[in-house]
Amino acid sequence: MNYFRIQKMLLVIVAACSVIFCTAQKSNTPPHIEKINGHGQLIVQQKPFTILGGELGNSTASSLEEMRRHWPTLQQMGLNTVLAPVYWELLEPEENKFDFSLVDGLIADARKYNLKLVFLWFGTWKNSMSSYAPVWMKTNPARFPRTQDKQKNSQEIFSVFGKETLEADKKAFARLMRHIRETDEQQNTVIMMQVENEIGMLPTSREFSAIADQQFNSNIPNALSSYLQKNATELVPELQQQLKKQGGKKSGTWAQVFGEGLSTDEIFQAWYYAGYTNEVTKAGKKEYNLPMFVNAALPRPGKLPGEYPSAGPLPHLMNIWNAAAPDIDMLSPDFYNPDTKYWCNLYDRMGNTIFVPEMQFDISCAAKAFYIIGHHQAIGFSPFSIESDNAGATPLSKTYAVLHQLLPTIHRKEWLKMDGFLFDKGNEVQQADFGQVRMSVSHAYSLPWMGNKTDTLWPATGGIILQTAPDEFLVAGTGIVVTFASTDSNYVYNIASADEIIFKNGKPEKQRRLNGDQTHQGRHVRIDFEEWGIQQVKLYRSPRSIASK
Ligand code: DGJ
Repeated sequence: MNYFRIQKMLLVIVAACSVIFCTAQKSNTPPHIEKINGHGQLIVQQKPFTILGGELGNSTASSLEEMRRHWPTLQQMGLNTVLAPVYWELLEPEENKFDFSLVDGLIADARKYNLKLVFLWFGTWKNSMSSYAPVWMKTNPARFPRTQDKQKNSQEIFSVFGKETLEADKKAFARLMRHIRETDEQQNTVIMMQVENEIGMLPTSREFSAIADQQFNSNIPNALSSYLQKNATELVPELQQQLKKQGGKKSGTWAQVFGEGLSTDEIFQAWYYAGYTNEVTKAGKKEYNLPMFVNAALPRPGKLPGEYPSAGPLPHLMNIWNAAAPDIDMLSPDFYNPDTKYWCNLYDRMGNTIFVPEMQFDISCAAKAFYIIGHHQAIGFSPFSIESDNAGATPLSKTYAVLHQLLPTIHRKEWLKMDGFLFDKGNEVQQADFGQVRMSVSHAYSLPWMGNKTDTLWPATGGIILQTAPDEFLVAGTGIVVTFASTDSNYVYNIASADEIIFKNGKPEKQRRLNGDQTHQGRHVRIDFEEWGIQQVKLYRSPRSIASK
């Protein structure tokens, strides 16, 4: 072999090795969030992934046997992800003795059903309390101090100031993340982690132990001062107003900067909750860098700090959480009250990626999933107690079936604009502009021939619209009606064609051509009430008044 041939062969071998090496590197990239045009996108195994999920009831995942009864149903419902707790008390029943059998069993079984997992770390706090902490911690209050109310009564809540508590949580969470990495780094069955669960102070607005009081009467930490200074014009309006009332101070005691009162107590407590949770998150990410989020119990209207789980990752405290917990990827709302749009809008600020880990599981979830994914470009949606025998299950699986078909188009960004819609009584119609096309999207009950107008409650309906070309659209959902106009009053838009389609392997297949009664003789496109579907709609534009020859 001559010298040049040997050199050429070596070059080929080196190139092949580097391709193999790069591919191996790539496939090891853990699931992560990428920001695309200001929106977070979850990436799993190098591809966009939207969680069509469901969260298990609190105790179900403590028995693999019980779970084995549910896996087939969860798969049949069209879920691609299950949110399942990991219980500290069962993971570390004795200090430093870890039992991963539940975690391993859940991962193995999820794989059998081709489902992904989001694990919820029920650690120091679960719904304000510390009931999931191991008993060796609960029985040692000297080492793991509790919170105290104003009368110095202690609660079954670990104090955020407990140094050993934090170290114990960090250690356990880090062990968990190491174990998940060792077990799952290649397959990525586990795609995200929730750190703690619905952190929030109840029944007081903050802790009142001696150390808490001492911190409260000191100056706010320098890190918070500089965050407030650096982001003065970017803060959420709620916080800006509060600072303004105090003359815009960025340093001083908590009361000097934020004023006297319950909301300052809450900000103080939030700062320490967020800092603690960030430490736990950081310890976990050091072992295995999965996306990590925290969830919040939303307050009922009119309730004051201390009357609701206060100081959690709530929208009015976003800046405090962002400043103290930069390693947390998302602040997520749990929905057990009806005002989905109001709360989603509050969370869709400050670049926060929207993920809904819990929602009251009822028939309205089927419509809400369209809105949250379509309008807020959420990375996922997940009703709570998904394994329960629930009237919402069939509607939700119909919505998930539509979303599964649309997701490849959504992920490939084969659209100019995407929007999501949600309707009920009081939210009956919404106007949206897609380029020059002005759409009026409404609840199917608003049709003149629907007899349900006088009902005081309208079942939720909703949909997603994707603009795939200036005058072409995919209209998907349940119980919606769409009419078309032009943003330019000299023109009108009419329907050129409306086809019912299904996507197979990401490609549209035409089913019926819709016209006549199905489009109200060309006046609208419609997906009937209690029907689910996708329509490909083409429009044509003509002048409003055509001069006659
Ligand atoms: C919200 C919590 O995060 C869940 O774990 C569960 O307790 C539900 N509330 C209500 O059952």
